Amino acid sequence: MSDKITLSVIKADVGGYVGHVSVHEDLMARARQMLAQQGPDILVDWKVMAVGDDLILVLTHRNGEENASVHELAWDVFMSCTEVAKELKLYGAGQDLLADSFSGNVKGMGPGVAEMEFVERPAEPIVVFGADKTEPGAWNLPLYKMFADPFSTAGLVIDPKMHKGFTFEVHDLQDSKRVFFNCPEEIYDMLVFIGAPGRYCIKSVTSRTIDEQAASSSTQKLSKLAGRYVGKDDPVCIVRCQSGLPAVGEVLEPFANPHLVSGWMRGSHSGPLMPVSFADATPTRFDGPPRVIAAGFQLAHGKLVGPYDFFADKSYDKARAVAIDIAGYMRTMGPFEPHRLHLDEMEYTTLPEVMDKLKDRFEPI
Ligand code: 13P
Ligand code: 13P
Ligand code: MG
Ligand code: MG
Repeated sequence: MSDKITLSVIKADVGGYVGHVSVHEDLMARARQMLAQQGPDILVDWKVMAVGDDLILVLTHRNGEENASVHELAWDVFMSCTEVAKELKLYGAGQDLLADSFSGNVKGMGPGVAEMEFVERPAEPIVVFGADKTEPGAWNLPLYKMFADPFSTAGLVIDPKMHKGFTFEVHDLQDSKRVFFNCPEEIYDMLVFIGAPGRYCIKSVTSRTIDEQAASSSTQKLSKLAGRYVGKDDPVCIVRCQSGLPAVGEVLEPFANPHLVSGWMRGSHSGPLMPVSFADATPTRFDGPPRVIAAGFQLAHGKLVGPYDFFADKSYDKARAVAIDIAGYMRTMGPFEPHRLHLDEMEYTTLPEVMDKLKDRFEPI
């Protein structure tokens, strides 16, 4: 047990209602029922949320990151929800659970995990983001804007506690390596990598002035872990705000411009990331467009005061309208890139079969 509090956000798709659109209320109820039974040695507080077909457990505790008991609890909740999903014959029941039994840590087993351990400040405003029909690299652009772009985050210029910038931890998901960039002086080097979000993902961000971690994202790459594709790795992200970290409004600002992300329809298309209220996190048109929710919490002695539904706000109406326009425009491309993803990024492909069928018809030129 430590004085520090740990925020663990763990998510999985354990069955979609209907298809890949939402999480059925019975799954949410099962998750709440199980978490409510936990004693204070395991959890301080918890919330159950959803974005699209992804079930999100927001947990606070004093057991540190990658804690076996907390991860096992999350695993058991997802397994139990899978049973509910199987009874209802929901789509893809247990889709994101790759292992048959728990082995100490959910990392690498399918569920997405973002965790952060810290000493709770006198006021601790936090935003938990969840996105559906996309991949962990979807956070690269908004995290860059929050912590390195002065045209988005005014505090980088005018707040003495932010002016020295932030350190970014970037993971290479293909080669399982990491590298740290000190920004602003290394932003050009960093952008070479994070501009390719299918491979390089921002894992965490830390202040260079105050001794605080500011952001943590889930970077699990399901396709790699399983050796085959078993569903898109829809990501979550935690961002702490204010008092030397970006203000809440600065953390939300990047989502006013819906950027293009990978993962729409069959995990094989690109489309705009639309900021939505909790109620509108139901990707329906062509299983999309991809959605993001932002849940605000004030932590109070580890208790999660919230969630506050940020993107329900009217000021994101224009972003939604733009996203819907872009979605329509992208759809007109049908099976052509860049709406359809590049060959090596698609979840589904008929290429080997079609190539095999036509192999004798290919002639030298
Ligand atoms: P802090 O420096 O206390 O985070 O305040 C910044 C702010 O909220 C300005 O909008
Ligand atoms: P999920 O990854 O959200 O299950 O979506 C899969 C898909 O292919 C939707 O078309
Ligand atoms: Mg699904
Ligand atoms: Mg999903």
